[in-house]
Amino acid sequence: MKKLLLSVAITAATFNGYTQSIDQKVASLVAKMTLEEKAGQMTQISVEAFLKTTNGQVNEPHEFDMGKLEEAIKKYKVGSILNVGGYAQTVEVWRNRIETIQKIALQERLKIPVLYGIDAIRGNNYTLNSVMFPQQIAQAASFNPAMAKKAAAVTAYETRASFIPWNFSPVLDLGRQPVWPRIWETYGEDPYLVSEMGKAVVQGYQGDDVVTDKYHVAACLKHYMGYSMPLSGHDRTPAWIPEREMREYFLPQFAAAVKAGAKSVMVNSAEINGVPVHANKHILTDILKGELGFKGLVVSDWQDIQYLYQRHRIAKDNKEAVMIAINAGIDMSMVPTDYTFTTDLIELVKEGKIPMSRIDDAVKRILKVKFETGLFDNPVGKASDYPLFNGEAHNKLNYDLAAECITLLKNTNNILPLTPGKKILVAGPSANSMRSLNGGWARIWQGITSDETEKDKNTILEAVQHVFGAANVVYSAGVDFDKTIDITDAVSKAANVDVIVLCIGETSYTETPGNIGDLRISDSQIELTRALAATGKPIVFVLTEGRPRIISSIEPLSAAVIHSYLSGNEGGNVIADVLAGKINPSGKLPYTYPRSTNSLINYYHKYTETLQFDEMAGYNPQWEFGYGLSYTQFSYANLTISNKTLTAAKAITITVDVTNTGKVVGKEAVLLYVSDEVASITPEVKRLRAFEKIELQPGQTKTVSFTIDKERLSFINAQLQRVTEPGDFSVSVGGLKAAFKYE
Ligand code: BGC
Repeated sequence: MKKLLLSVAITAATFNGYTQSIDQKVASLVAKMTLEEKAGQMTQISVEAFLKTTNGQVNEPHEFDMGKLEEAIKKYKVGSILNVGGYAQTVEVWRNRIETIQKIALQERLKIPVLYGIDAIRGNNYTLNSVMFPQQIAQAASFNPAMAKKAAAVTAYETRASFIPWNFSPVLDLGRQPVWPRIWETYGEDPYLVSEMGKAVVQGYQGDDVVTDKYHVAACLKHYMGYSMPLSGHDRTPAWIPEREMREYFLPQFAAAVKAGAKSVMVNSAEINGVPVHANKHILTDILKGELGFKGLVVSDWQDIQYLYQRHRIAKDNKEAVMIAINAGIDMSMVPTDYTFTTDLIELVKEGKIPMSRIDDAVKRILKVKFETGLFDNPVGKASDYPLFNGEAHNKLNYDLAAECITLLKNTNNILPLTPGKKILVAGPSANSMRSLNGGWARIWQGITSDETEKDKNTILEAVQHVFGAANVVYSAGVDFDKTIDITDAVSKAANVDVIVLCIGETSYTETPGNIGDLRISDSQIELTRALAATGKPIVFVLTEGRPRIISSIEPLSAAVIHSYLSGNEGGNVIADVLAGKINPSGKLPYTYPRSTNSLINYYHKYTETLQFDEMAGYNPQWEFGYGLSYTQFSYANLTISNKTLTAAKAITITVDVTNTGKVVGKEAVLLYVSDEVASITPEVKRLRAFEKIELQPGQTKTVSFTIDKERLSFINAQLQRVTEPGDFSVSVGGLKAAFKYE
């Protein structure tokens, strides 16, 4: 026992010693630095600035133009590099890239390693052959943060296998504007779900220790904050978000992830209430670094300091833009390809327009992340440390996670699962497309190369052929996303089949190239669906899409609907296995699936938005947040509250019995909603306050229990304070309801 106590004491002392010594090391390093070295640390350049080209095209595989790379590090003292610079590279090219960069950096006077960052947003997608998991929105549908954490740990491992220590992920923007082209990069519309997923994923990326080991990376929370809510739904256009709403819906998930130890934050590229967030001292310094006590590094988004004068026009030139952004609280500029930031920053400090204390604060935050990712000890990795890269275990986890994301939205007369021997027509523009399964940020920013790079993975068509037998499957795309190809061919092939699996949705995109003027699914896909429906054969829709494209005009023509979001490289396999009943679907919608383009109302709407008071166009979605069917049935009973009165001092426990009353094993996400009956700020009809995913054998019952304290029911009042007002509440779980009071 004594020995144990002694070892605990030693560990604690070493741990404290370690964190303390990082601060000391940072302080003594900063004390030695010149202004030029400090400005260099605050500069982040995109790797394409240093790549060799032939006739304007980047050489493949990538090669450095050593003159340009040396100029960046030796002349401008650049502290950080990002991006892939075009197409994904092999793990060997990446290792070589990082070794070359660090070799030059370590020849410099102070031997400060370069911090390399990429968007490994669901797997290390910029390294060829790495595992590509489902995108965030699909992972949210699993309602399984523990599993998302495991996938994040694998992403971290495979990113470190390329010797990269910094990941621009997760996105903690609130996905409540379905038109926005990045909604699929979010964990959906609910702040609590986003927080729970976000915390788990940060832990998966970073591991449990302050200093990440060689298998973990620094996370970067983005895009702080309010980025996801442009009024038009178009990326990087104005949002109007009052501070109360900001604090109620957009801030809590960042606060939770900061508390979980996230090491960096990236800033929202757009403007809120007329102020670009890159210029907003209140949001960046007062709230993030002050109130939330964030001690890590704040990086700009792509070119966003330059955009302060080039696009937003709140500065007259680059120098003024740099002054505004750095004084607002940005620590590092993702410039991305020139040194205007560095030279202007130096001049501004010399002119007294940015205080040296601000520069020192920024540089300390950057160096702290460099120490905490272990870069000073191990600026590069060791190839032999990563035998599991793209191995069986990682790919199996990808399949298991994708399986939990698939959401069954409709299953008339239990047409699914399909019985073996059925003759199937697989049709639609995403039926034979790895691009539609993976979406953007695949091996390249817009995801356009997935059909070539992921050739060895199964599309939906290929997987259905494997599972049901090639002889039972015919194929006709019929249409592309924006034009018809051969609808007659698809219709004629439907003649001899029992069922049509119609794969519709979207192709890959992200950011502004993904902006749309119409949320409805494209006309060509509607035309194909109508033609196939006229054959009288039952149609199973498989939706592969980054945002909920409106399908209300064709939904009645379907017998079943499987929503697969962007399910990644195992997407084809899991969809085929869902069709065959090898996987029992357990995903639930992480957002409201709208029915019509001008009624984009979230589930946590106000009473005035319900059909009761807006009879013509109130909340009446195609499918609700949290909706999802199973091949078995779950029944809920015995909703019990430990005490009918909640007090500040004592939480209540809510329990419910869930039984699998069907014939097959199944997983169920148990969702607990609370309604505040009367409040000083108009209360939402309901809010998700807890959830848990369980597995039940046929006939099995489990009692699920949730603890709800006063904080969980709080909201931001008109004075911007977080409060829980005394009064009546009701709780609902699986259709059961009960009441309690807060006193
Ligand atoms: C995106 C960020 C991304 C950054 C670096 C920007 O265009 O908005 O999400 O992390 O590029 O690639």
